[in-house]
Amino acid sequence: MQVFHTRAEWQEIRLQHLQNAKSIGLVPTMGALHQGHLDLVAQCIQKSDISVVSIFVNPTQFNNLEDFEKYPQTLSEDLELLQDAGVDYVFAPTVETMYPSPTQLQFDFGELETILEGAFRPGHFNGVGVVVSKLFHIIQPDLAFFGQKDLQQVAIIRRLVQDLSFPIELQLVPTRREYDGLAMSSRNRRLNSDERSKALILHDSLVFAKKELESGRDWFTVQKSISQKFENTTGCQLEYFELVETDKFKVFSQFEPQEKTSICVAAYIGDVRLIDNLPINS
Ligand code: PAF
Repeated sequence: MQVFHTRAEWQEIRLQHLQNAKSIGLVPTMGALHQGHLDLVAQCIQKSDISVVSIFVNPTQFNNLEDFEKYPQTLSEDLELLQDAGVDYVFAPTVETMYPSPTQLQFDFGELETILEGAFRPGHFNGVGVVVSKLFHIIQPDLAFFGQKDLQQVAIIRRLVQDLSFPIELQLVPTRREYDGLAMSSRNRRLNSDERSKALILHDSLVFAKKELESGRDWFTVQKSISQKFENTTGCQLEYFELVETDKFKVFSQFEPQEKTSICVAAYIGDVRLIDNLPINS
């Protein structure tokens, strides 16, 4: 495995591989890797001739400075995991490499960036759009791998690829869960043991809501009972619990069984913000 830090280094490596017409797969990450990331990496290795993982905690996608400063950074552990997984290359740029001067670039993702994550984290998807575009321009992968846990991010990146005509095939990988259902996330490391138990409320609520909808309960009633459940649990603060069309990410006010639907949740457990989602009829 080779670690590189600049576009110039990659251009040389890429040229050598291009001569043998190899396909390149990219897994963009912010490090603090867990088994969910390693699932993406395994898919990347399986489906591409050359695997590249980027590790960059992107400052422009954090709308909250404290969240950025507390984001776990574990580069040497991450590199060991990637080496063991059999990755070919790791791109670990500095902030100065990615942003030689502060970016002024503004994307407009329309309604997609005004709902759910977009509403609670203003500017977040602009930062994601900027950094993912930069990574795509620098690495020029044929395939790029993203996790379904960040369902709205996937919809944003799909738009980005379409609107900017990136010749890249997006590959989605299902959410990896802990033994008790908690979705794996780099932020889980920040939970203390009490918060770790309380964090199960996200997955439990999704499973409960799915069952209720399948048994014919109306969405308004389900949503209300979930809000109640959060209100009654100290240390857990619900931000949203919504029903969406899975691919285009449009909010539904009621369950349409014939549409591809997912339930999405975001909540603070203590001061750690977690998200999760569950497909109902994919
Ligand atoms: O999903 C993430 O970890 C990040 O949003 C991404 C796609 C690596 C961009 O910084």
